Parts: sequence; C-alpha cells; structure tokens
Amino acid sequence: MLLPTPEDCGRVVADAVIASVTAAQAGGGPVALGLATGSSPLLAYREMQARHRAGEWTADGVRAFLLDEYVGLPAGHPESYREVIRRECTDELGLEVHGPDGSAADPVQAAVDYEAQLQAAGPVAVQVLGIGGNGHVGFNEPGSSLASRTRVKTLTERTRLDNARFFGDDVEAVPRHVITQGLATIREARHLVLVATGEAKAAAVADAVEGPVSASCPGSVLQLHPHVTVVVDDAAASRLARAEYYRYVLAHKLATQGW
Ligand code: F6R
Repeated sequence: MLLPTPEDCGRVVADAVIASVTAAQAGGGPVALGLATGSSPLLAYREMQARHRAGEWTADGVRAFLLDEYVGLPAGHPESYREVIRRECTDELGLEVHGPDGSAADPVQAAVDYEAQLQAAGPVAVQVLGIGGNGHVGFNEPGSSLASRTRVKTLTERTRLDNARFFGDDVEAVPRHVITQGLATIREARHLVLVATGEAKAAAVADAVEGPVSASCPGSVLQLHPHVTVVVDDAAASRLARAEYYRYVLAHKLATQGW
C-alpha cells in the first residue's frame, strides 16, 4: 500500500496488525504477535496503544515475540531489543515478551533455543517487519540463506553505522553480532506486515518487492509468502516501477478482500 505520509503508514499497519490479532483471538488459545524494533514501526505501535486505550481491541491471550536481539548487551540494557520493545510497545499493552537471550554465555545455543520456543508457540499470527537500507529483514543481512533458521549473524558495518544513532552515535558501542529469526522462520508467520518510510528505503523496497528473489536482497523472500502487506510512504515507494498499478489496486479494493 502506497500512502502519502509515515503517519498514514502507522495507521494502516495498526489496522492490519489488529485485524490479524483479532481474527487469531477468535480461534481461541494464545496468539503469538511478532514485533520488530527500529524506527519504522514506532508510529504503528503508538497507534496500537492509542486504540487499545480507547478499548477498540484487546490484547487478551496475546504474547509478543521478538524478531532479533543484540548479542553481548547485558540483560536490561536500555538498547537491548527486549527493553526497546517493552518501552515502545508492549508494557502499555500488558504483553509478555519473548525473545532470544542475547546475554547468554552461548549465543549459538540461545538461538537454537529461541527457534524451538517459536516452533512450540507458533505459528506467529502476524509479524511486523522493517527493512534495512541494504534489504535486510530481521538481521538477515545480504547473503543470508532464504532457508535460514534462527541463528547468530554478524552485522554489516552499514547496519552498525545505521544503528549507531541508538548508541549515542558511537558505532563502536553497537554490537557486532545478533541473534535473528531466520528467513524461513519469518516465513512461517501467517501474515507479514512490512513497513518502510523515507527515501533511504526506496531502493531496498523496490528490490524486495520487484527484484529477483535472491539472498542478495533478503527482503525479497517476502515474494514467496502467500500473505504479505507492504505499507510504504511515497518516499519509500519512489523507486517502484509499478507504483501506479499498486495505487490503482488500492483505490479499487473490494470491501470483501480484507487484508
Ligand atoms: C529490527 C530489525 C531490522 C529493522 C531494520 C530497519 O528488529 O529486525 O530489520 O527493521 O533495520 O530499521 P529502522 O526501522 O530503524 O530503519
């Protein structure tokens, strides 16, 4: 969906996530909600919180699952993804948060354990995703196997530089390693909702949506999933070859088509 502003994207991502969570709740039993960190989903999280306060949806039975986590930050570090997601999203919604243990003595085993936890709790009903300027989803950097499972990855220097803003602009403070859900793990979620805003994401969005399916652009794995909602503002959509058609589709969506 191509929308004019990041605020519009936040509203529509919240609509999509709440719709999928509500549908999953209707099935009874616990619901796994997959959450991404980073700047892209923040407006959606605010919107989800506001609608929750307004009583428009309930988080009953919902548990949050992280996409990824830094390796080596001590538990409780303010920039660990578990803390970020609690602060930005789940504390207000009252959700339990599960994620890889990035502070474990053996991160390789912690990744295996988290994959097992996801398998036991899943499938994730709806997974929120951002995309890196280099096309990564989760922290599956370019070159990641499209069949990958949760594992330790080494961040590119570009990603560390991009994320230095969360560490007082000190790139050396950004961990080199992460535990991330693999691309095959992410694909097991029932509904993927990717949000990207701003010109800096335009090339990655075009490669992911319209380029060849390739490990060189991990986001392109979305093309293999049967239920993906891509929500981008005009700036992030600026390199899409078929932008006009996507706008036409949105303008003529049938009421019964849903998400
Ligand atoms: C975060 C994550 C990353 C980010 C991506 C975009 O959990 O997995 O893939 O979604 O780096 O980050 P922002 O949104 O900060 O541009």
